[in-house]
Amino acid sequence: MSLDLPIRPRRLRQSNAIRRLVRETRLSPDDLILPLFVHAESGSVEIGSMPGVMRHSLDSLVGECEQVAALGITAVAIFPCIPAGKKDPVGAHGLAEDNLLFQAVRRVKTAVPEVAVITDVALDPYTSHGHDGVLTADGRDVDNDETVEILCALAVLEAEAGADIVAPSDMMDGRVGAIRAALDQAGFSNVLILSYAAKFASAFYGPFRNAIGNLVEKDALSKVTYQMDPANVREAIREVVLDEEEGADIVMVKPAGAYLDVIRAVKEATVLPVAAYQVSGEYAQIHAAARLGWLDYERTRDESLLAIKRAGADMILTYFAREIAEGRS
Ligand code: PBG
Repeated sequence: MSLDLPIRPRRLRQSNAIRRLVRETRLSPDDLILPLFVHAESGSVEIGSMPGVMRHSLDSLVGECEQVAALGITAVAIFPCIPAGKKDPVGAHGLAEDNLLFQAVRRVKTAVPEVAVITDVALDPYTSHGHDGVLTADGRDVDNDETVEILCALAVLEAEAGADIVAPSDMMDGRVGAIRAALDQAGFSNVLILSYAAKFASAFYGPFRNAIGNLVEKDALSKVTYQMDPANVREAIREVVLDEEEGADIVMVKPAGAYLDVIRAVKEATVLPVAAYQVSGEYAQIHAAARLGWLDYERTRDESLLAIKRAGADMILTYFAREIAEGRS
């Protein structure tokens, strides 16, 4: 039989040429930011829970940045893995002159100045308890204002080392405004702030904490007094509005895949560029299911990233950035 149907949406799906013409969302290396880990060892080691992701030596970090720059990646986010012996309750090593992060930023900016370097502003790589800041006197919470003061110093040191973009990932109140003022006062008014504005207390960070050696005890470290409740979206808008008022240049939602509604809501609430972080657990779950033969690796990977863009992300931090830029399938 033949329906009397003048409107047939399937006409737009009949061939590859037409599907390409009407495609609404595209992934481009221009929008991808590659997170990279560096440690102080002389060799690189693969991170067990993140297949294909390395803890780089300084030399191999520079080599990786040279290669991804050639592939068209515009920015990298560098995370240091600090040995336990250098951690303490106040994260003092974070402010130590010439610590691993500052060395890494200097080396990368010297070798590949065209790549934008993003650094996290948070104390978790350096604190023995793994929290993003210093604790209150009773040790039961992170002290907001004390932490912000330290983060301002850290952001200035990162800018001095050559960071183009500093990314406060700590979720303290008022840190964006304080960091902006500190940067400007130190002569870094051109350094951007990419604020982890809506960062949720997520179980999807598990493999990352493993990667930076931040698995303090067996019990998952709880950051619920500063990171957001995964149940909330209106509160995410409040955080974004505040960060915008305080001078953020780019706002981020993190994680990405389980928070597509938040990305969309944030996109509609601000005219700032919106970033999303496809975090370690999102990466790991695709790898794990593919290894079991339960999901098709490339198609799941590509769909996960496309969905984040479709939701409204202008840029995506993703551990898949390099292979997407390589067109590897
Ligand atoms: C901490 C930080 C985290 C991530 C980036 N910066 C973890 C956390 O908040 O505990 C997570 C990244 C990922 O899981 O890929 N400042």
